[in-house]
Amino acid sequence: MVDVILGLQWGDEGKGKIVDYFAPRYDIIARFQGGPNAGHTLYVNDQKIVLHQIPSGIFHENTINLIGNGVVLDPVTLKKECESVKSFGIDFRRNLYIAQRTHIILPTHRALDKASEISKGNEKIGSTLKGIGPSYMDKTGRNGLRVGDLMDKNFTTQYIRLRLKHQKLLDGLHFQEDVSAWEEEFFEALDFMRQFKIVAGEYFINEKIGQGKKVLAEGAQGSMLDVDFGTFPFVTSSNTISAGVCTGLGVAPQQIRDVIGVTKAYCTRVGSGPFPTELNDETGDRLRKAGSEFGATTGRPRRCGWIDLVALRYACMINGVSNLVMTKADVLDDFEKLEVCGKYRIDGKETSEIPFQMLQHVIEPVLTPFKGWRSDITGVSSYGGLPAAMKAYTSFIDSSQTVKDSYSSNGPGRNQVTENL
Ligand code: IMO
Ligand code: MG
Repeated sequence: MVDVILGLQWGDEGKGKIVDYFAPRYDIIARFQGGPNAGHTLYVNDQKIVLHQIPSGIFHENTINLIGNGVVLDPVTLKKECESVKSFGIDFRRNLYIAQRTHIILPTHRALDKASEISKGNEKIGSTLKGIGPSYMDKTGRNGLRVGDLMDKNFTTQYIRLRLKHQKLLDGLHFQEDVSAWEEEFFEALDFMRQFKIVAGEYFINEKIGQGKKVLAEGAQGSMLDVDFGTFPFVTSSNTISAGVCTGLGVAPQQIRDVIGVTKAYCTRVGSGPFPTELNDETGDRLRKAGSEFGATTGRPRRCGWIDLVALRYACMINGVSNLVMTKADVLDDFEKLEVCGKYRIDGKETSEIPFQMLQHVIEPVLTPFKGWRSDITGVSSYGGLPAAMKAYTSFIDSSQTVKDSYSSNGPGRNQVTENL
């Protein structure tokens, strides 16, 4: 049996904390897509840690963590992250596994990402520049190197061949930086990676499922950044939606049970692209400040706005969300007035659907006002203790979806979660 946790917006919904919260109920936590563009923030013993590549179950001693084949893996980031996890007393060698079909991000992939963004000028995606797009291009273009290739004696030859190809592309884009400076730590990190448990992920996971073990698939990014269904071309390069679990881990669709969708109580986006409920005003600044909305991976200020139910309904439909989790509700504690977007108005007509090309239209959000609760909810431990105004806000959002249960998170800590009744 496999349950999934994934983001329903443009990433940064608080997935890491929610995975950490649910982790004790599962035997295996598996990442199925994305790479170090993800930044999953957890608090362990009140200390903050940001994970980019390692699944968020790493702090639970008896949990197996698997980096699935659908991920693109940067050895340098992985090595650094393992070292920081070790400083928390975690022996990552014991419970971290890597699928051999996982593609490796090369230093030249990072360079190509940068060169491609520069060449786009004002139309740039706002990529995290971690080499995600170029390494997925090499995967679908049938050129990439995989973790299992590390054991091949011809690895270096294969590497050099690909690197030369990349160099030609970089020259064509007039990219000047010397990439060879990055290669030393890359090769060191490859040696480090050879010590891991590198497994045939698809057999590994299906064998565990056969033994009755419970798997939680951890998504990165969000549904609106999905390469097929997101706000293309302002998206990432993988399938962030629940369908990505099957290809990213090698499990059959019948194995998937619950899809736990995570949304913030408001909305943020980092990087370029459409964002209909964005607030370019004092309220937006207030949300950014109250929610510490600065990128966990790049440190960039996040764009902020009200929650968007058109996008949320769309994401719930595509993912088949069965459980809805609303995070960072406490960020709204001091707001006198809140607003929720239920529809878009485009060329004078109201619609509940995401248009094909959002940037070609002026999209006006149709907003419903709500009273703020004006109280501190961070210490509330049960649904009954939540203020009435917050219950009204949450039930409006829940009732716009067809989910079987829902939760709210009211602070960064592991236990600050209430189940809504
Ligand atoms: P988590 O897992 C928020 C955004 C980038 C950019 C676009 C493409 O922490 O939610 P890429 O690096 O993939 O080429 O960037 O996607 N993006 C994210 N935004 N959270 C993330 O991950 C993101 N990963 C990528 O800002 O707009
Ligand atoms: Mg993040």
